[in-house]
Amino acid sequence: MINLFEPNIGTQSSESLSQVFTSKWLGRGDFVNSFEEKLTKFMKIDSNFHTISSCSDAIIGSFELFDFKIDDEIIMPTNSFPVISSGAILKGLKPVIVDIDPSTGNIDFESCRKALSTRTKAIYITHYGGIPVDIKKLKEYIGNDIIILEDSACALGTFVDNQSVGSNGDFSCWSFDAMKLLVCGEGGAFHIKDSERFERACEFFYLGLPKNKKSGMDSAKDNANWWEYDLKRIGIRSIFTNINAAIGLPELERLNFYLERKSEIASKYDNNLRAELITHRNDLLKDNVTYSNYFYTIKTDKRDELAKYLLEKKIYTSLRYSPLHKMNLFQKYAVGDFFGADDFYSRSLNIPIHQFLKDGDAEYIIDSINSFY
Ligand SMILES: Cc1ncc(COP(=O)(O)O)c(C=O)c1O
Repeated sequence: MINLFEPNIGTQSSESLSQVFTSKWLGRGDFVNSFEEKLTKFMKIDSNFHTISSCSDAIIGSFELFDFKIDDEIIMPTNSFPVISSGAILKGLKPVIVDIDPSTGNIDFESCRKALSTRTKAIYITHYGGIPVDIKKLKEYIGNDIIILEDSACALGTFVDNQSVGSNGDFSCWSFDAMKLLVCGEGGAFHIKDSERFERACEFFYLGLPKNKKSGMDSAKDNANWWEYDLKRIGIRSIFTNINAAIGLPELERLNFYLERKSEIASKYDNNLRAELITHRNDLLKDNVTYSNYFYTIKTDKRDELAKYLLEKKIYTSLRYSPLHKMNLFQKYAVGDFFGADDFYSRSLNIPIHQFLKDGDAEYIIDSINSFY
């Protein structure tokens, strides 16, 4: 079967893992520091970047960090990872689920504008498959007072004007789970522009301990009762460990190669698939955008038949994410029309695109899709 995504963990990851085992320090330590240093260099982020257990944790935590009050409203596109709506509800907030732009799968700006109310505090955008939401344009619709939270889980490698998506906003988060461009087993990271809020976030994700608290052993020489600690705030424990970092560190060295390879495959699809199947590329092929190509999404009226036909040919396809406004748990939070979503969910299909897809596989996929017609 040709997979949609395929994690690659090379022998170098096992070698660096064995160094972690030998060191006997499996938790957060030097490997994590080195991972953060190299990754922020790749992303061109100077500060306020921190790794934790998962992007889902970062999203749940983000609702704690912006002083939201019960029943405050958070606008989100129906095409969101479900933890965004669940996380808002867990915190006593009200998700307001709106329509999407069917060509990109990203939030629809006019629907955001219509959904604004006196209780709107934030918009949770998702850069769908790494396709950048034009935040400047979004602000023309919603003004400058609404907090913009960014789910950039799949946007590692997307740069706009030479700036990594998510690196300049109020809050953004990324994922390093087993299906992402940078695989660490599990893992996530966040960036928060405001330094005081960033410090609060780091404390929140580590039990609420003061950020600069030393370990018991490090403070033993200056402190009579070095085993004591006090908490600064309520918190949870979500950490990125040396184990995750050791898996990811060698992968980091290959990110540019992976991105180039995905871009080559996307160009093959662009050039060889029927033009009417490709609707999202014009938004991306702009000089100031470098795109992660996390998904390659085609659109066709015969989507279901095509997916079945490809499955028979051992090509696995899928469609992320199930629409929030159709889920029993969340449908009461849907507002406005969903014409864009209706189109997107009835006609779109994510086809395989990953760095280890061979030319022959890509050609087989193209031939199979073309032969379907
Ligand atoms: C858009 C999006 N957001 C959030 C997540 C959650 O990431 P994680 O698996 O690191 O919790 C995912 C995972 O697939 C995702 O695709």
